Amino acid sequence: MRGLEGRVVVVTGAARGQGAAEADALARAGARVIATDARPRGDCRRLDVTSDQEWAELAAELEESYGGVHGLVNNAGITWRARVGDVRPEDLARVHAVNVTGPLLGIQHLAPLMPPGSSIVNVGSTAALTGHYPVAYTSSKWALRGLSKAAATELGPRGIRVNTVHPGFIETEMTASAAPAFREANIRETPLGRTGSVAEVAPLVLFLLSDEASFITGAEIPVDGGLTAHGGAKSLSDALRSEAGR
Ligand code: NAI
Repeated sequence: MRGLEGRVVVVTGAARGQGAAEADALARAGARVIATDARPRGDCRRLDVTSDQEWAELAAELEESYGGVHGLVNNAGITWRARVGDVRPEDLARVHAVNVTGPLLGIQHLAPLMPPGSSIVNVGSTAALTGHYPVAYTSSKWALRGLSKAAATELGPRGIRVNTVHPGFIETEMTASAAPAFREANIRETPLGRTGSVAEVAPLVLFLLSDEASFITGAEIPVDGGLTAHGGAKSLSDALRSEAGR
């Protein structure tokens, strides 16, 4: 993809799941990838996205080694499956610290090192477009949308783009821990009738990081098999079709 060769790109939460797939795909495209994770494995470097200190250390190292950074994928995220009635404030704060404060710190520390033409991709969720029940997670991903829009506005004049991808149900360890009924209901609500894979999210992230997306900023793109396209209308359509017997 145009403009990824030799680019220095940081990916958070890259030890497994979508982050690992994005780091691998970026490396295959010729980027110099700094894969990071709070629980590093393999080639990953340690970075807890909630730590201002660890971001500062990473930024200093990148400046020293490369003189700058061209890309950031704010992918690290955690979920917490408590509902409105029983979520505890401390759990809400913990989820927001990773899913919102983490990307904010990444932008604050790395954007100053970014030349024009750089690109930031935030990993949202279809939860950010709906009233998904795990309220700590849902509210954090909605907040991330606001952060993305504000950052796109703020950084645009410096030639730095900020976009958000919204994955639907993607097969990773995060979703492996969900109840089977959650998986089945997702498939039922998804027009393409299946879950997605990490290999179906990574190409969009690479595209948004690349020069091919040079006039795209502040955008939000679902990768969800159509889950959020119908706004609840699929169950109505399915019910009428089944009543009509076709
Ligand atoms: P995962 O749970 O498989 O991987 C997440 C990675 O983030 C792990 O390696 C974990 O160690 C790391 N991480 C957690 N807290 C961290 C912290 N404080 N600092 C640095 N790294 C940390 O999850 P998955 O599925 O790969 O998710 C990636 C992103 O995609 C997350 O932001 C998630 O919310 C989002 N997402 C996932 C969906 C799915 O269906 N799997 C759907 C929609 C969004």
